[in-house]
Amino acid sequence: MSTPPEERIRQLRDLIRHHEECYYILSAPEISDAEFDVLLHELEQLEAEYPDLVTSDSPTQRVAGRPVEGFETVEHLVPMLSLDNAYSEDELRAFDERVRKVAGLGDTPVAYVAEMKIDGLSIALTYEDGRLVRGATRGDGTRGEEVTANVRTIRAIPLALRRGPRGRVEIRGEVYLPRASFERMNREREDAGEPLFQNPRNAAAGTMRNLDPALVAKRSLSAFTYQVVTDPRDALKGVPYQNGRREAATADAVTVGDGLQTVPSHQLEEGGHHQSHAALLESMREWGLPVESHWRRCVGIAEVAAFCQEWADERQTLDFDTDGVVIKLDDLALREKLGSTAKFPRWATAFKFPAQQAHTKLLRIDVNVGRTGAVTPYAVLEPVFVAGSTISMATLHNAEDVARKDVREGDTVVIEKAGDVIPKVVAPILSLRPPDAVPWVMPTTCKECGSTLHRDEEEVVWRCDNPSCPARIRRSLEHFASRSAMNIEGLGESLVDQLIEQDLVHDFADLYHLEPSQLENLTVAPRDPKSERAVPRKLGKVGRNVVEQLQRSKANDVARLIYALGIRHVGEKAATTLARYFRDIDRIMSATAEELQTAPEIGPVVAESVRAFASEPRNQTLVDRLKAAGVKTTTDLPEPTVDPVGPLMGKTFVLTGTLTSMTREQATDALERLGAKVSGSVTKKTNYLVAGAEAGSKLEKAQKLGVEVLTEDEFRDLIMRGQA
Ligand code: IVH
Repeated sequence: MSTPPEERIRQLRDLIRHHEECYYILSAPEISDAEFDVLLHELEQLEAEYPDLVTSDSPTQRVAGRPVEGFETVEHLVPMLSLDNAYSEDELRAFDERVRKVAGLGDTPVAYVAEMKIDGLSIALTYEDGRLVRGATRGDGTRGEEVTANVRTIRAIPLALRRGPRGRVEIRGEVYLPRASFERMNREREDAGEPLFQNPRNAAAGTMRNLDPALVAKRSLSAFTYQVVTDPRDALKGVPYQNGRREAATADAVTVGDGLQTVPSHQLEEGGHHQSHAALLESMREWGLPVESHWRRCVGIAEVAAFCQEWADERQTLDFDTDGVVIKLDDLALREKLGSTAKFPRWATAFKFPAQQAHTKLLRIDVNVGRTGAVTPYAVLEPVFVAGSTISMATLHNAEDVARKDVREGDTVVIEKAGDVIPKVVAPILSLRPPDAVPWVMPTTCKECGSTLHRDEEEVVWRCDNPSCPARIRRSLEHFASRSAMNIEGLGESLVDQLIEQDLVHDFADLYHLEPSQLENLTVAPRDPKSERAVPRKLGKVGRNVVEQLQRSKANDVARLIYALGIRHVGEKAATTLARYFRDIDRIMSATAEELQTAPEIGPVVAESVRAFASEPRNQTLVDRLKAAGVKTTTDLPEPTVDPVGPLMGKTFVLTGTLTSMTREQATDALERLGAKVSGSVTKKTNYLVAGAEAGSKLEKAQKLGVEVLTEDEFRDLIMRGQA
């Protein structure tokens, strides 16, 4: 007799969840992707045949949501607190002493659980009777954004708990992007000419706040959970814990699992009936929740310190970014006794790993000439392995930086790699300095063209002012061809070098006169990353492709061209704004600085820079020649959406700092829809400055000029009122 459909559907769901766990939580798949797809497909077909049997927690229903307009704000069961930090073993010991003192434990060693601190974004998952009903971001700790549709696409997060708490519970944890997925995603973005994410955390945060669950599903986010919060009132109503079958509960006591433990309900706040965090983590794993597996129960702070020490180096082996270890008191009843401050629990702290450092020899200090003529020193190092990769160069920022640190050629130096930034030279080790080492001096002439370098009074950067400097032209051409500019595939560093060396190209317009035959016969020497040696080869077909790419690039929107021209202070955003507002490059070239500033978000600095560019006869000829070559100089992008009769009409806003609840683009868009103008710089004409986190000089200027400053909350209020 064949299995009834209900039964087979149940079997398939269990099987699929089992394999999702193996794959996404344990990283130990038992079947191939193809075999997994067969199961999923069978379930999809059965559900199509018996639509009545479809439930929201079926694995077929992960991407059920459509793009949403915005996220709802929701309140957390209890506030999501933050963690106090410890940066050294001494600070860890101080934490332990406080804990023992408050707990009245004297010298008795305390048991802690040490867990990886996952560098993602915190999430609160609400399960009702074992079913995932809501996912919310941390937000301000009290209220977050409801991102359920996005959360459901994360395969590590069960849509239904296998067993465990009934009633309502909030499971908390961290959503993160595995490093491998991060790298893949950035490669794809690079290919598509999209801006790259700085690090996996930003990528995960950006993804979670995306309004389209289908896109989120493609990003392979993952998650770990580490906390269970229950509402004691809920716990009394039903049967909060169940292992396999339901048990009866009495009014003030809750029967747990196999019925062995009966605990008063007041202990349900944190971790339900569990007495220790370690036991809770084990249960969570059994319920089917993703729990990071490297946690360890440590008795006494010395064991904790050893764990932190161990992972400071070992963390490179993990598939996710971690910036420290979270240390939590294991005994849940003791936790209650310790309680929390307004911000942090007193029973936990986060040990932050030091930035990863290494020592190596500084072979020489060289300088790099950028496309704007900025000359920046960098250190050429004896290759050294640090934080997962080999480093042979590090930035030295500017001449002042070198002098301040007194870094010299021949020094042994400390270098540091801190997550998302390029390695930097921290300091020389003076005891290892060779006796003949001399202070470094900035060259006075450009190493490429011999022009005298010059520096403005108030600037720290030295510049080569020769617009025909070959180094500047090389960098400008590379920028012109780059993915976010004209996107000319194949026109990279080594080909640009050759084009200049062979005297084939002197400016951007020359590129459009290249013949396939000229390129086919060029010999380039791309660096082979494996052999570290230049390997010369004839371009051949690749050369022909570059010419095709050049032809294709003529049809690019003028926004790309404006950015590609490399006008100082004109990034992608400003270029797009200028294109959308002025429609045609001729209008931009002939606009006064004042006219330029009528475009949204274009301030005096950008306006002045564009005008300086446009007033150079050389640049006027360049634009004319580009046009003559057939490069598109108009836009098809929509005009900026400034509502001429909106409630904020005539008001000028400046945004600064980081907004937590929306992106800059969303904020600008919302303001423009209400008729406001968003400008890039604070002037007397500015009506409001919206100051997000870490606002800097613009905030100071606004305060000096008496411009009204809005916090993010006030700003959101204003927008909300405007929309209403
Ligand atoms: S426990 C009451 N455990 O770190 C605080 N947090 O800096 C409970 N985090 O907001 C947090 N990994 O988003 C805890 N294993 C871990 C964690 C972790 C990452 C995050 C969490 C928290 C932030 C505090």
